[in-house]
Amino acid sequence: MQFTVAIDGPAAAGKGTISRAIAREFGFAHLDTGLLYRAVGAKGGNPVLAAQELTPDDLARADLRSLEAGEAASRVAAIPEVRAALVAFQRDFARREGGAVLDGRDIGTVIFPMAEVKLFVTATPETRARRRWLEADEKSASYEDVLNQVRERDARDMGRADAPLRPADDAVLLDTTEMSIAQAVDAAKASIARKLAQVQAQKQP
Ligand code: CDP
Repeated sequence: MQFTVAIDGPAAAGKGTISRAIAREFGFAHLDTGLLYRAVGAKGGNPVLAAQELTPDDLARADLRSLEAGEAASRVAAIPEVRAALVAFQRDFARREGGAVLDGRDIGTVIFPMAEVKLFVTATPETRARRRWLEADEKSASYEDVLNQVRERDARDMGRADAPLRPADDAVLLDTTEMSIAQAVDAAKASIARKLAQVQAQKQP
């Protein structure tokens, strides 16, 4: 069975947590597409070549989750040739047998608009900055610094010409500002379970 869940949204909205929980619940494979851009940014040198030559080892680097790696990712992600080099891998992943969940910025709009379920996960910049600040190991940056970074990154991700961050027309919006992790995960699971039941019912003779 092929079944694709696309989860898009801005930094620290809860996409990763929701995606991992969904993958576990439904037995789907999970791809955090932000890691691809983080790995390209972290490699340094020519970002287009880095994207074209990306290897599984590049994705296993320990430093990809840092605030700096997120910044570098959002810069290289604005380069159309970098994005183009990463499309085929993501599309293949989306159609793998057994179901797939991909989280990122443009999964429902560009990478896989045919996804059976599209979620757009958001929260206010203040809430997202607080979450990001609380989860950072080194408190080298203040909450205000993190809030500024979140705002800058939102502006860059939404303002770029190629694959800007925006909800697909038929995406289900999930605002997690006032939600616990468990509530957000439950809401996402409910959307998917509904669609999965429909798809399975259509397959019956
Ligand atoms: O976890 P967080 O949302 O902070 O970052 P991420 O999802 O790892 O993404 C890092 C950066 O990569 C984002 O700010 C985007 O600029 C870029 N990105 C993208 O352009 N398209 C994607 N599908 C995923 C990430």
